[in-house]
Amino acid sequence: MFQSLRKVFQKSDPITSKQEDRATPKQEGQAISKQEWRQTGLSKTVVLPEAAKSLIKEMILANSSQLLRDSSIRRVVVEERLARFLAANSEINVFKGKIEHSIPNTVEWNLDGLKHLAGFSRGDQILRVLLSIDDVAQRLQSLKVLIVGPRIEDELLALVGWGFGPDNVHGLDLISYSPFVDVGDMHDMPYETGTFDIAILSNVVSYSTDQSKAISELLRVSASNSILAVSEACDRRSKDVAQSHFRALFGGDSTSNAIDLTTKEILALFGSAAGHVIFDHPIPDGVEIGSNIVIFRKAG
Ligand SMILES: C[S@@+](CC[C@H](N)C(=O)[O-])C[C@H]1O[C@@H](n2cnc3c(N)ncnc32)[C@H](O)[C@@H]1O
Repeated sequence: MFQSLRKVFQKSDPITSKQEDRATPKQEGQAISKQEWRQTGLSKTVVLPEAAKSLIKEMILANSSQLLRDSSIRRVVVEERLARFLAANSEINVFKGKIEHSIPNTVEWNLDGLKHLAGFSRGDQILRVLLSIDDVAQRLQSLKVLIVGPRIEDELLALVGWGFGPDNVHGLDLISYSPFVDVGDMHDMPYETGTFDIAILSNVVSYSTDQSKAISELLRVSASNSILAVSEACDRRSKDVAQSHFRALFGGDSTSNAIDLTTKEILALFGSAAGHVIFDHPIPDGVEIGSNIVIFRKAG
């Protein structure tokens, strides 16, 4: 544990090459400049006094990674690591290939979400279920885990906090500032067939315009009998507001594809590749904000 956390802090080498700041980096494939990040107040979100932050860092290094189980402590670590990255690099790393199968402005939208640490700790819901599965709980250190679309390091650090091996935890995203998160497209993953024992997709499938392609790629990189966990956020209160916001940002597309995937629809995407269903949680009637979550074994 102790060793693991030391690795987390050491694993912080910048992964992007430095480039000139850009005045208006708003097109696909371009990133937000450091100047812009500063202007939008990222540094203001790091509200803890320096003394408190150093104390938390000391505690983590000196004690154990278990502190990362707590989302407020994790938030300090995530903010610190992001701020450290931005101090050393002008831009967040963005996938350089052609983005063919994602809804418009996926990159811009998520760079904005990254900056605000949007959705922080919502991955905990899936993690709590995973930890209650015996063959997961008993083999945490050795299981290879893929998080598709983590956006920030929150989900990855939570896994490490609960005992997964830092070297076995990989993220894949179109954007990254983290050595834990490979830059790539979920429709064409840079991994060998049968690599991962667990794959987690929290609020990412709905970004795809070719979900079957994304799923077949996910199935390719997953080992047999692996565990697949998929969730999609659902906000029944603010659907109209969310849709108009989305339309303004995404130039006319509706959010329906992004927020309405039910657990039945998720399972249908996997078809006969979905084996034993461990957890099927449609957002219950009467709950306004939550997540449709389904966790199941890959068949065969
Ligand atoms: C809404 S965020 C989800 C963040 C986190 N998993 C959560 O649940 O809060 C969706 C993430 O998926 C990533 N993403 C979207 N399309 C992708 C693709 N084709 N390949 C890889 N990542 C993708 C986005 O860049 C973004 O970081």
